Amino acid sequence: MPIKRVGYVQTRPLFGEVELNLSSALSLASRADADLLVFPELFSTGYLYLSKGELTKLAEPIPDGPTSKELMKFAEEHSTAVIAGLAERSRGAFYNSAIIIDERGEFRGVYRKLHLFNEEKLFFDPGDVVAGVHELSSLRVGTMICFDWIFPEVARILALKGAQLVAHPANLVLPYAQTAMLARSIENRVFTVTANRVGLEERNGKKLEFTGMSQITSPEMKQIRRASKAREEVGVAEIDPALADDKDLTDLNNLWRDRRVETYKDLLGAPHGVVR
Ligand code: ACM
Repeated sequence: MPIKRVGYVQTRPLFGEVELNLSSALSLASRADADLLVFPELFSTGYLYLSKGELTKLAEPIPDGPTSKELMKFAEEHSTAVIAGLAERSRGAFYNSAIIIDERGEFRGVYRKLHLFNEEKLFFDPGDVVAGVHELSSLRVGTMICFDWIFPEVARILALKGAQLVAHPANLVLPYAQTAMLARSIENRVFTVTANRVGLEERNGKKLEFTGMSQITSPEMKQIRRASKAREEVGVAEIDPALADDKDLTDLNNLWRDRRVETYKDLLGAPHGVVR
């Protein structure tokens, strides 16, 4: 199976400056020679919404909105598949979504974030399905968004659906995800690409600092590429997708064959005991 070049675009969006954010992200992205590029969560609008009114103004339909169209044009011109986080408006609902575009510039799908983080719950509607797995640049790619990382079920389902790589647009503020994504890689034997943002958003007395350190991890739990904490940058790594198809850990252990699904039924039940 041929080697693939996959990467992240780490940006510093300014809240509400959609055209500027899009053009600076695309200008960074065009420096990369890649089969697949992942952009951060909400990369074109910024993150810290203060009202539903702001979201109503900034969210766009996918794939008919102007930002989706520009991303599809970029993908076609560069023969690069793109997964990018966008604020989506659809039939009166608002989602924290990722658009999935193949290397011919064709729209392939949208994933709507399942697990909303903190005040996202005030403004966004949650999605209700785990993403499909899409063949992009001859790679099988699953998509999740930011806080989905803390629910290992999401990456697991994507791996069970055949993903060789998990694309992970993010706007991380807690210090855990970069380490946790190494676990998502080894426990599913998949590659992951986390595309995080950098910078500070300070609005109306609220303040969030984003952690950068976008990264690419391997099925052998290696961090094969890591960005800085505070700079805008694009990072690409060469990967061999066949490594993600090999689920053998030892001569006698295979990640899929060794599962004991008949003992896992409690996973689908409610928690026991006191839940605070
Ligand atoms: C996050 O889900 N943006 C932390």
